Formats: sequence, C-alpha cells, structure tokens
Amino acid sequence: MEFAGAIGQPGQAPPASLGQVAIAGRSNVGKSSLVNAVVGRKRIARVSGTPGKTREINFYAIDDQFFLVDLPGYGFARAPDAVREAWKRLVEDYLSDNDRLHGLVLLLDARRGVQAADRQLLDYLGENGIPVLVVLTKIDKLNRSGQARAISEVRKSLDLPSDQVLATSARTGQGVETLRESLLALFEPEPEGEL
Ligand code: GTP
Ligand code: MG
Repeated sequence: MEFAGAIGQPGQAPPASLGQVAIAGRSNVGKSSLVNAVVGRKRIARVSGTPGKTREINFYAIDDQFFLVDLPGYGFARAPDAVREAWKRLVEDYLSDNDRLHGLVLLLDARRGVQAADRQLLDYLGENGIPVLVVLTKIDKLNRSGQARAISEVRKSLDLPSDQVLATSARTGQGVETLRESLLALFEPEPEGEL
C-alpha cells in the first residue's frame, strides 16, 4: 500500500498497468482522508482544511493489486475559470477511454447530499458506462437519525437500490471496511456467459 505516482497534465500515463478505482467528489468532501483510511495510513494522501489542495491525480497501490486513484476535487466556488478548465481537461482526459478503470467512487458530504456538480459527473459516468459506487463522507457529524435521513435522501434523489449508498467516516472508521470490500468486488471477474 503506497503512493505510486501522479498525473499533473492531460495525456500523462499512469505509473503502472494496474486496474484502477477512482475517488471523486467536491472539493473538501473528504477524498484524501478516505483514501488514507482505506489504505490504512494516516498521512499518505495530503489532507487539508483549504479546499482545492489536491491538484493532481494521485495513484495509491493497494496490496500491489490495484490503484486507488485520488482525483482533484471539483466545485470549488472561488477557483478561477482557468483552474476549473484545467480540472475538467485533466479529469475528463483521465476518465475517457480508460480501459483500466473498473469504477468510480463518488463521495458526497453526508450533510450536503447531492449537488448540481455531482449530478453532472454522474451523467458523464452514465454516458461513458463507468460503474459508480456512492459513498457518504463525514457521517460522524450526524447523529443516528440524521444518518438514516441522509442515506435515504441520497437514495431517493439518485433513485438507487437500498444497498448502494455507503456511509463512511474517515474519523471513526465507520463503513471503511465495507468500502474496502466493495472496492475489491469491482475487480472480481464478471461471471462469464456460455460461449
Ligand atoms: P480536496 O483535495 O481539496 O478536494 O479535498 P478532499 O476531498 O481530499 O478532502 P480532505 O480529505 O482534504 O478533507 C477536507 C477536510 O474534511 C479536512 O479538514 C478533514 O479533516 C475533514 N474530514 C475528512 N473526512 C472527515 C470525516 O470523516 N469526518 C470529519 N469529521 N471530518 C472529515
Ligand atoms: Mg484531496
């Protein structure tokens, strides 16, 4: 489990030819924190209170089996247009035509739910046939009833089956083991039909 490399410009190649799962979400949603929790290291991905900290696409090798890919966050309101454009080019270049990408984990802040920029990304993923796992972050900030409400609102809002929204906390570790299992499941070979 270790940092394997980064992409800072469109067109750069990933550090090795391993399968990948990307983690995406709004700036400050908790992507880097959750990567650290899944990888089981405190400070491998840089966490910060300042939105827009992660500007590159970072690759973390999990058990030499696959890459967990930390994408830079979107929806940072105060970002200059040039930065937003650069984000779009970098991330869309990465997502498009990437046959090593087994799926994308979309993170949503448990207190904010689905926002317009999240929907745009979901539409893009749907059009490009990229499987999505929806994960709520910072669930520790809500009490029990708040947690249940947040999960059911996201399910309804995205019209997802009941088992497809995971609630996690990088702070308490809630949901992290389940997430790890869901990530591994993305790499299980699909049952092949009769030939
Ligand atoms: P960018 O790289 O800027 O897009 O942000 P990010 O999505 O990688 O978020 P990051 O992991 O840097 O976390 C942003 C802030 O949220 C930090 O202050 C974290 O400490 C805090 N945070 C992240 N996860 C959790 C969580 O599960 N619970 C709580 N309470 N705070 C969290
Ligand atoms: Mg980050």
